[in-house]
Amino acid sequence: MNISGKVKICGIIGDPVEHSMSPAMHNAAFEKMGLDFVYVPFRVKREDVGKAIDGVRALNIRGLNVTIPHKVAVMPFLNELDPLAEKIGAVNTIVNDNGFLKGYNTDAAGFLQALLDKGVEPKGKNVLLLGAGGASRAISFVLAERGANLVLLNRTLQKAKESADRLTEAFGREVRALELSHWNLVAELRHADILVNATSVGMSPQQDETPVPPSLLTASLTVCDIVYNPIKTRLLKEAEAAGAKTVDGVDMLVWQGAMAFEKWTGVKAPVEVMRGVVTGRLGGSPA
Ligand code: ATR
Repeated sequence: MNISGKVKICGIIGDPVEHSMSPAMHNAAFEKMGLDFVYVPFRVKREDVGKAIDGVRALNIRGLNVTIPHKVAVMPFLNELDPLAEKIGAVNTIVNDNGFLKGYNTDAAGFLQALLDKGVEPKGKNVLLLGAGGASRAISFVLAERGANLVLLNRTLQKAKESADRLTEAFGREVRALELSHWNLVAELRHADILVNATSVGMSPQQDETPVPPSLLTASLTVCDIVYNPIKTRLLKEAEAAGAKTVDGVDMLVWQGAMAFEKWTGVKAPVEVMRGVVTGRLGGSPA
């Protein structure tokens, strides 16, 4: 790596950050595009988030990704929020223009881009979203904003209801909430176009589990899984076997990174290089 005196610095703040794929993914992308940029991980404690953001201004760091547990905590320290990030209530990307810090949520925008990249337009489609945690929140807002008809299913019904109420209020279209049960899956999958797993079911070491029985998967569905370890979850394998289109967790991870990259550099991200780095690290074959 050749670091010049003009290098621009980007990075990720979180705790922990040691296992993040982002440094490898972004540094490979900077190198591929011949950019004088470098990306480093910063482990930041909860109580130091404000000081870290002051440091971004003081050191003229160009941009940051923000990961668990700081996606909400960084918000009051920024100068401006992108409207989608504000509605979601979480920021995962910060751009610094001469000390003016703007926060975005490319987890949400990246999820949408991953769908569009596969030729899937969620506008006007029936989408069944499993889960009501942090990942589900970003995905549900971007889908509602795009004009999808959303139904939320969650093991804990109350959490799905709270999410659905927030969405109904924010976008003025009704979002339904149901318990994640076999019979609700049977009933809702009958007229679903897109199924999104935003629960952690199927993640290593529980890779033998799936949130949806294979008999309910059909060729007319697009099936997305936020779980990226393993890359091909049991749900995605069974969806493929049923003839469905699939979007994996790596697609989403790479697109959120690509969208952050483009905001910092103004250069189109080398998405395939980024995907290759992530799949290489996860032990899969590059797509
Ligand atoms: P994330 O930020 O990845 O969304 P999270 O906020 O902890 O993580 O949310 C995890 C989601 O997976 C929740 O919707 C959770 O359901 P509950 O709200 O009922 O806890 C869901 N989940 C985790 N394990 C599950 C399981 N074994 N069966 C069904 N849902 C599960």
